[in-house]
Amino acid sequence: MTQQNAGKWDLGRFVKTLSYFGAIPFLSSVDWFQQWFGSQPDPKADSSAIATTLAAATRESSNNQGVILVAGATGGVGKRVVQRLVAQGYSVRSLVREAERARSILGEAVPVVEADITLPETLTPEVMANVNALICCTGTRVQPVEGDTPTREKYYQGLKFYLPEVVDTPEYIEYQGIQNLVQALNSSVYSHPIFDFTQPSSGLQDIWGALDDVVMGGVSESGIHFSGSAAQFAGNVSTANSGGFASVRTRNFDRPINLAEYDGIELRVKGDGNRYKFMLRTETQWDGVAHSYSFDTIANQWMTVRIPFAALVAVFRAKSVSDRPLDPSQINAFQLMLSKFEYDGGLNPHFTPGAFHLEVASIRAYRHSQLPQFVMVSSAGVTRPGKPGLNLEDEPPAVRMNDQLGGILTWKLKGEEAVRHSGLPYTIIRPCALTEESGGQALIVAQGDTLKGKVSREDVAALCVAAIAHSEARNIVFEVAEGQGDCAPDDWRCLFLKSTSSSG
Ligand SMILES: NC(=O)c1ccc[n+]([C@@H]2O[C@H](COP(=O)([O-])OP(=O)(O)OC[C@H]3O[C@@H](n4cnc5c(N)ncnc54)[C@H](OP(=O)(O)O)[C@@H]3O)[C@@H](O)[C@H]2O)c1
Repeated sequence: MTQQNAGKWDLGRFVKTLSYFGAIPFLSSVDWFQQWFGSQPDPKADSSAIATTLAAATRESSNNQGVILVAGATGGVGKRVVQRLVAQGYSVRSLVREAERARSILGEAVPVVEADITLPETLTPEVMANVNALICCTGTRVQPVEGDTPTREKYYQGLKFYLPEVVDTPEYIEYQGIQNLVQALNSSVYSHPIFDFTQPSSGLQDIWGALDDVVMGGVSESGIHFSGSAAQFAGNVSTANSGGFASVRTRNFDRPINLAEYDGIELRVKGDGNRYKFMLRTETQWDGVAHSYSFDTIANQWMTVRIPFAALVAVFRAKSVSDRPLDPSQINAFQLMLSKFEYDGGLNPHFTPGAFHLEVASIRAYRHSQLPQFVMVSSAGVTRPGKPGLNLEDEPPAVRMNDQLGGILTWKLKGEEAVRHSGLPYTIIRPCALTEESGGQALIVAQGDTLKGKVSREDVAALCVAAIAHSEARNIVFEVAEGQGDCAPDDWRCLFLKSTSSSG
């Protein structure tokens, strides 16, 4: 849309929009729901047929105990994680690059799978099958420039400084590898498809239609197209005539969908960096209360967005309303929106008027109990490179030498972001300098990435294993070092509770 005609409101589009969504009923009597769901629905039957199918599928996929997958199982922390898991009776699978070498380190009894996290094709469904939690202890190999000599032993203690060099490329190991793990793990999660746009059918165009600010006098214009392997929600959003939103929405389903067996909605999307809204409607009037959730996209990156029903905000237009809890058994419509507004007059912090584009591969329903946890061993110092006012003299070698080491900490931070945006429950542990000393030390945890010191690989491994057993460890990021704090050694719950405020 050009600036010239940006203020010209279109009566034709207004009438078309209202008729499409049934606000002018006689113009919109297509029984599209019937077309989409195939068979002729029995008008006397209630809507429980879809719910019954969903519930059966859910039971089928939740009927087992699950495996703990350890990536980097041949490493200093990883091998200790495997030993502890086995000792505690967990079912363990070790992800390693060389099976033979792994067996010489871990013993013959531990099941190993060969894969390389930088090669997504090796992260097969078999590697990820039935995984309850992934503990990721991978890392770029760093060694003293002298090579793998006896000095390496001292280097490994984190005590004395030897000039280090990276053996692999940190971008691949710390970022792309973590992203590959996130994607493979997400693909393994069972969720029930509601709209699978990867296999578009002609009926979709009768279900989804544009609902732009033309209904309020604005001139934004959008549409949704079903081609290739995703739905394309695209258009131009303008703030002219006090407008500022574009959206696409389903017509009301003939009978509400019952998602009471589920905990939320899962979107697979590739955006453009804008913040979008996803909405559910349980009411049938076209201008009624909706339940809304805002989500950020990363330009040109596929991501899984999980929206717990509990996180949806009840709104009338963009105003929040109270006392309107969502009834997930009565879903009548879905909507996707790009709006200048957040809620109650607040502004979308990432909004810029103009062209936008959101690809949507699927809309599915998920159950929280089926989401595997991602435990990541990261590093203290990931936010420090380039931080203004930092005195490098006081910083550990990894921070001082971040550039020489291929930006290892910078890529680790990007890897952390991939985990935090995965839609999976996560625990990100940022240890200070790792040592080979014995475990069982008192530990301190901190937030804000200023902690310095050392911590044994033994204690980091124990922390990783504790993270999968404590609900308090979910969705937290924290630094850890040896030291006398408020928590007794092994009081993991105390440590996780102290880390809660760092939740990202
Ligand atoms: N050193 C420190 O002071 C310090 C401080 C804070 C945080 N950290 C971080 O803590 C983590 C654990 O440290 P660590 O000492 O246990 O590390 P480590 O002994 O070097 O082990 C790294 C593990 O990652 C695996 N790995 C590397 N690239 C891989 C790939 N492409 N695919 C699959 N596996 C791969 C290695 O497998 P292979 O056996 O096949 O090589 C090895 O098992 C690392 O992320 C490290 O950066 C270290």
